[in-house]
Formats: sequence, C-alpha cells, structure tokens
Amino acid sequence: MKILHGPFTQILPLTDLPLKGALKDDQLQIIPDGGILVENGLISAVGSFETLRKQNLSEQINEIEGDSVLLPGFVDCHTHICFAGSRAKDYAMRIQGKSYLEIAKAGGGIWDSVTQTRAADEALLTKLLLKRIERHLAEGVTTIEVKSGYGLSVEQELKQLRAIKTASTQTKASLVATCLAAHMIPKDFNSGQSEYLEQILTNLLPVIKKENLANRVDIFIEESAFNAENAIIYLNKAKQMGFDITVHADQFTASGSKVAVNVGAVSADHLEASGDTEIKLLANSNTVAVTLPGASLGLGMPYAPARKLLDAGACLAIASDWNPGSAPMGDLLMQAAVMSAAEKLNTAEVFAGLTFRAAKALNLTGRGMLATGMKADLQVYPTNDYREILYHQGRLKPDRRLI
Ligand code: NIG
Ligand code: FE
Repeated sequence: MKILHGPFTQILPLTDLPLKGALKDDQLQIIPDGGILVENGLISAVGSFETLRKQNLSEQINEIEGDSVLLPGFVDCHTHICFAGSRAKDYAMRIQGKSYLEIAKAGGGIWDSVTQTRAADEALLTKLLLKRIERHLAEGVTTIEVKSGYGLSVEQELKQLRAIKTASTQTKASLVATCLAAHMIPKDFNSGQSEYLEQILTNLLPVIKKENLANRVDIFIEESAFNAENAIIYLNKAKQMGFDITVHADQFTASGSKVAVNVGAVSADHLEASGDTEIKLLANSNTVAVTLPGASLGLGMPYAPARKLLDAGACLAIASDWNPGSAPMGDLLMQAAVMSAAEKLNTAEVFAGLTFRAAKALNLTGRGMLATGMKADLQVYPTNDYREILYHQGRLKPDRRLI
C-alpha cells in the first residue's frame, strides 16, 4: 500500500551533494509544497505534492497541516548507549577542575561504567538501552550505532551485544552494533595489551560472527588505552575475519587516525587532537572523519578541526558519542548546532554530516537522503524555513516522525 505524505512547506532531499569536502548552502535542493510517496518503508517518489497527488489519485493521503520542513532521519554513527549506572560523580569532579588521573584514582572513568554495567543483567541493560533509543527516535535520530565496551570480558561483552540485538527487534530505529572490547585493558586482566587483544581475537570475535551480533570492530588508541602498534595487528586480524573497522582516534594525542587510514577503517572518530598531517591523511582517504562535539562539551575541551577537515576535502560526519562519562548529554542536533557555530559549518555541511555522510561511516547505503528506493526514515520540523533548525541550536525538535 502506498501513502502520499504532504504537503510539506519544504522538503530537503539532500541528494546530489558530494560525499566529501566543503559544501555551500546554495547546493541544497529545496522542494516547496512537496510530497513524498512511501511504499513498504521505502520511498517511491519525491516531488511536488500536487503533481504526486494527481498521479496517485487512488492512494491514501497523510495530510500534513501547518508549517513543515521534511528531512531524512538523522544517523548517529557513534554512541555508547548500552550501559548501566551514572558517572555524575566524575562530572562533578571534572567541573571542579580535577584531572583524568585524579578522577580515575577516585574510582571514576570507563572502569566505573564497566563495574556498573557488569552488575546489570541483560534484560535491564536492554530496557535502559531502549529508553535511550526512544529518546533519540523522538529527536529524529532513526539510525543508531551502539558500541559494547563496558563489559571487557568475553561473557560481559556478549551480554552487551546480545542486549543490542534484542533491542533492535523492539524498536523502529535501525541499530548498528560495534564490538569495542578494546576500550581499555580491564583492570582484572593480569597481562599486557597484546595478550588481551589476542584473547579477544581468539575467544570473542568468532562468537560475535557466529551469533551475528556485530560486523564492526572498534579500538581506543590512546596513551591510557591501546598503542598504535598493537592496534594495527589487532585491527588487521579483525579485518581478515570480515569485520569493518572503526577507531577512537586522536582524542587526546594524535596517532589513531594514521592507524585508521592505514588499515582502511570506515571511520576515524574524535579527532580533537588531529593536526595538519592527520587532516591531510584523512582528506586523502576513504575513511570518514567523525567529529563528536558531545565529548568536547562533556569534557570542556576544544572541538575537532571540522572546518579544516572539510576544507581539506574530508568526508565529515557528526555523531553524539552519547556515553555515561565524556558525553552524557546525548542531544545530537544540539551538539551539531553548537559546534557548527564555533567551527563555522554551514547548514548543508551539518545536515550532510548528520545523514548520508554518517551513513557512509557505517558503510550503509540506501538511507540518509530522500530519493526513490531509499529507506523512508522521515522527520518533520514545525517551521517554514529549514534555516530555523540550526538557528534554534537544537531546541527546535521534529514534531513528527514518519517511520
Ligand atoms: O568515546 N574515548 C573513549 N571512550 C569514550 C568515553 C567512554 C567513557 O568515558 O565511558 C568516548 O569518549
Ligand atoms: Fe566514543
């Protein structure tokens, strides 16, 4: 059964835009008084509402009243929303000026979330995850990547990934799971980095493949986590097993993005510490540069050099990094809007970074723009001018979701 939705004051299909590099707002196609024809969750046609109505007289109409700007649903290509507990204590310490080390010594940091997540059973974890997914959906985010990484043992990582799989059957959002067993060396593991990674390769990744729990592998490359040398060995082996690779790169020190490009990762994420060399490397690669303004806001640190990355020719996506520690806010549109003011990203660049460029970071096709054959993940803003969306810096939310 086909349904014709409309008329929308404006439809922004986000088609015909390049995958990489800087954009201009006048490259944005705007369809006034638009309509969209949907069949079985896929887009059949996009165009003038009146024309589509005349061509489809026998089809059902979902009449849209009032001001309405239609966009493709957002793709959040980097989150850690499968967790239990809170790190409000860390946050309070951080805003009192305490360092990362002092917070870790006081029992905070990633390990605190591991402890709290391990204590939750799979059903509770699924419930907490679904609650966050529903919040994202209500805010127009229709595709959500979710990482493990708060289990850090074979059984506990599997518990997280199974919770993500179960949640995906209970929501209209599309979930993409990623194994982040290489988030840090667990404190209860009594050997070194390479032994830990070897153990993940031998005992965890084959089970993930067998149970079809994830097809992506992530690693945190940082002085406090894993070094570049061990990461390259790990990632190449994971790649040989058929996993897509993504990297937590250049968050505090530059080194991860080089590894990401070297192993052909689909994305290098964070990049707050990327310099000119890393920017050039990323721009000349097929690795998507994912910026995470939520982590900059949560940690009170500078943004990734988003403007420079775009000007150098990179494919730039924007994701929330929603997690209990460094990025507790989880409001993707607000974070993108706030970063765009500081970094001088125009609307076309922000919308591209939240949709088809973010889909590229997940190696997903068929979504992130409004065109025939694409997934009909639709969000509608109650305004007559698309520019109002960033102008309100995240406070203007979609009032309708059509999935
Ligand atoms: O992406 N950088 C490493 N991992 C997360 C933080 C996770 C946490 O603090 O719990 C991040 O910011
Ligand atoms: Fe992260």
